Amino acid sequence: MRWRRLSLATLGLLGGVALWKAARRQAPVTPAEETERVRRFYDQLAPRYDRGIRLAEWALFKDGRRWAAAQARGETLEIGIGTGRNLPYYPAEVRLTGIDVSPAMLELARERARQLNRPVELRVGDAQALDFPDASFDTVVSTLSLCTIPDPAQAVREAARVLRPGGRLILLEHVRSPLLPVRLVQRLLEPITVRLEHDHLLREPLEYVEAAGFVVEQIERSRLGLVERLVARKPE
Ligand SMILES: C[S@@+](CC[C@H](N)C(=O)[O-])C[C@H]1O[C@@H](n2cnc3c(N)ncnc32)[C@H](O)[C@@H]1O
Repeated sequence: MRWRRLSLATLGLLGGVALWKAARRQAPVTPAEETERVRRFYDQLAPRYDRGIRLAEWALFKDGRRWAAAQARGETLEIGIGTGRNLPYYPAEVRLTGIDVSPAMLELARERARQLNRPVELRVGDAQALDFPDASFDTVVSTLSLCTIPDPAQAVREAARVLRPGGRLILLEHVRSPLLPVRLVQRLLEPITVRLEHDHLLREPLEYVEAAGFVVEQIERSRLGLVERLVARKPE
């Protein structure tokens, strides 16, 4: 019995190592190909997304959605709006537009908006190439999206372009932990989460936010440095 348990554990371990190695060997793809893969993944995941994300919300993000949406003012764009889980928390006076690369996720956001009676313009779109004129929003919001967008630095540059001078970028994201043991675990897991879920664990949005010319007004880390809340302003 003990031998059987031991050999099952060994098989499990070998399987895990094989999966990790296979994930690391992934052939490089262009951002356009990766964006298409992400769209397909979220189109398939959509019916299960709300159920799946609840545990992470409870363990990591707490009142993060309420916090992020409460920062919004005026014309607001949410990129990667998904199934619209932030919709209940936006102030009523905010004029909201949401884009997402996945039509299936957006369909659920549409249903949620209907149930909440929340006016929102929802469009299929790519955060890396926004279909809006320069300086057309007062606020851009992203929650848990920069981890999946293939080129997050380009998405942040696009956010800067569509924001009016003085407009704000609001982020709630899971990021690379500054704590070495936690970061090592993230490094081990990342090839698997990227391969299976297009979810990057080691990203550092602050780098792209500063590089895009934003002035960081507020930044908070919590949960072993895994969760970041950030407010940044586009200079006047
Ligand atoms: C982890 S989900 C987060 C959804 C939502 N923001 C939330 O807080 O629940 C990531 C979302 O980003 C979207 N996404 C990924 N790449 C995108 C892109 N290039 N442009 C727009 N949306 C994208 C996905 O379709 C998905 O809905």
